[in-house]
Amino acid sequence: MAKPKITVIGSMNIDMVTETEIMPNQGETIFGSVFSSFTGGKGANQAVACARLGAEVTMIGCVGEDHFGKQLLDALKAEGIDIVNVKTVPHNSTGIATITVCDNDNRIIVIPGANHNLYPEDIMSLKEIIAESDMVLLQQEIPFVTVQAAIKLANELSVPVILNPAPAIKLPRELLDQVYIMTPNEYELAILLGLDEKQERTYEQLIELYPQRIVMTGGSKGAFYKSLDGEMKHEPGKKVEAVDTTGAGDTFNGALAVKLSEGSTLAEAVKFAVAASALSVTKLGAQSGMPSRAEVVRFMEAQA
Ligand code: RIB
Repeated sequence: MAKPKITVIGSMNIDMVTETEIMPNQGETIFGSVFSSFTGGKGANQAVACARLGAEVTMIGCVGEDHFGKQLLDALKAEGIDIVNVKTVPHNSTGIATITVCDNDNRIIVIPGANHNLYPEDIMSLKEIIAESDMVLLQQEIPFVTVQAAIKLANELSVPVILNPAPAIKLPRELLDQVYIMTPNEYELAILLGLDEKQERTYEQLIELYPQRIVMTGGSKGAFYKSLDGEMKHEPGKKVEAVDTTGAGDTFNGALAVKLSEGSTLAEAVKFAVAASALSVTKLGAQSGMPSRAEVVRFMEAQA
């Protein structure tokens, strides 16, 4: 089978990761246990996930003219990802994410830097690349106007878009209508639909607003979506020894994109994506734990 062609449009960051036993309170200073730095950014992570799972990947994004930018480009190149369309922006620094890992969970602050230099005109100039893609994968760590332009262009070219709406903002209805699949978590789902915070709704009611088009990720709980026959589906999470959940959502998105581009059903793709993201949390760092295709297949066989 020919490899599916996936174009990832998104952020590229260096992750500065601090591991700590406890979270400091406001105004408190504590000692952490370990500091490490990794290549990351939701865009770059999703590109790596797609490549390891068997896609031909083109990355569109921006880095600064600095050591971190070169480190990110080298890392993507080593995965066989096409980086020709990653812009190196002079006089700006590469995006940085400060990540605190505590108690199998994380908190992330992103300083976008060069990521905010990816403009709609950059996307328009890459029309041919998008036209040749089986899928476009987007997140929201680049300017929102650029996300909008990419969705519009992909639609005009009849290329399906998966939008991972993180960090979440309320999205205009016409944009939601142009997206093939959205992959929010429960918290992001309520924000992107712009629902009244006071009005309590279940995730089933939220997914109902965009049936077959929302796949809600639930961390260790797995994923939730509505099938074509109108049934609410839950693909349960897999039990693994979690070390760092950073990048689990990115692995999920990459895996979903690869399987759907290969023609799998939504149910098959979600099952595969849940397994891939479970494996990704067993190592520290967003990209370090991302599995290969063979590893996911072996893991699924062992689980079965
Ligand atoms: O999804 C995880 C990613 O979010 C990290 O790699 C960090 O860079 C932020 O973009």
